[in-house]
Amino acid sequence: MIGTSNGRPISITGLGCYVPKRVVTNDELSKMVDTSDEWIIERTGIRERRVAEPEEALSDLCLPAARDALEQAGVRAADLDLIIVATVTPDMFFPSTGAIIADVLGARDAAAYDLSAGCTGFMYALAQAHGMVSAGLSTNALVIGGDVLSKILNWHDRSTCVLFGDGAGAVVLEPSQDEGFVGFELGADGSGGVHLNLPAGGSRLPPTSETVAAEQHFVSMNGREVFKFATRVLVSSAEKLLDECETSMDEVDVYVPHQANVRIIEHAARKLGVPEDRVVVNVDRYGNTSSGSIPLALADAVADGRLREGKLVLMTGMGAGLTWGSALMRWTANGAGKA
Ligand code: ACO
Repeated sequence: MIGTSNGRPISITGLGCYVPKRVVTNDELSKMVDTSDEWIIERTGIRERRVAEPEEALSDLCLPAARDALEQAGVRAADLDLIIVATVTPDMFFPSTGAIIADVLGARDAAAYDLSAGCTGFMYALAQAHGMVSAGLSTNALVIGGDVLSKILNWHDRSTCVLFGDGAGAVVLEPSQDEGFVGFELGADGSGGVHLNLPAGGSRLPPTSETVAAEQHFVSMNGREVFKFATRVLVSSAEKLLDECETSMDEVDVYVPHQANVRIIEHAARKLGVPEDRVVVNVDRYGNTSSGSIPLALADAVADGRLREGKLVLMTGMGAGLTWGSALMRWTANGAGKA
């Protein structure tokens, strides 16, 4: 799916993020599995990640992020029309974490649900919310991307447990006077689903003592295949979208790729010809936070001054499904430029 925004302009008017307090370093992991700080840094660029407490669930991470985004946008929860939570680690199968969050925030009039597109979830949710607000079905939207992958990692499997971390980010979308979102490109290749999945716990393989004993309730990943996929789609998705929007990479001020592995990011930036100073990287501090990755990186780019009013930002996510998605937008925030 690809398209430019040809309805009324929609933009981000508020952004908030939250990560758990607990920092887990590579050295700590090397006491749990046969790995080392050197190996993890060399192969992934990750130095540390945040890990939720046993009693912390996804909504506990999403709520502070959502409150900050709403405050920045100057939108009351009671005035929200739509809440989408992109995640693969909801509080529970149902009710949706979106509905749980709507209740706690007091968003009585909002439609609220979860969206599952792996680490690409935040990009899918942005596109969906954009479509609804742009079409006038919704006056605004709270889009949250967050995951607590630490809860579904096998902490005895060194090939996965060193890669991920927990975190969440939220944005408010509203009609704007300025350009805001320029276009989206989204895709999925279900044939690659076997390379990154959570085998049991669904209707195909319901939970039993056998599935627990066989450790089938944890992330299962073919790292090499996912690596090949990621390096390919980060480039192809961005190129397709820029082409559709008749924009060159030179015009992009800030590049926000999914934060999975610094080698994947560097490969994509090199192929796309993005200068290093325009690439946002925080995988060293957070690991791969799945749906939280892109909003956390946006917040970092705002904090370091690179992402300011009027800057053109290109975001690309990829993940389980296998899925991918890009968005191009002219940055607005702090409630600025509302229509
Ligand atoms: N510590 C030490 N050694 C390790 C570790 C570890 N944590 N993990 C694997 N190894 C070993 C392997 O067993 C293998 O040993 P062997 O040669 O004796 O068999 C060796 O290191 C090399 O393994 P490779 O898999 O070839 O290592 P590679 O350089 O490909 O790096 C990695 C592995 C980091 C997983 C890489 O493939 C990768 O990043 N893939 C993409 C993963 C990803 O991004 N997933 C999520 C994307 S989608 C989403 O965000 C949900």
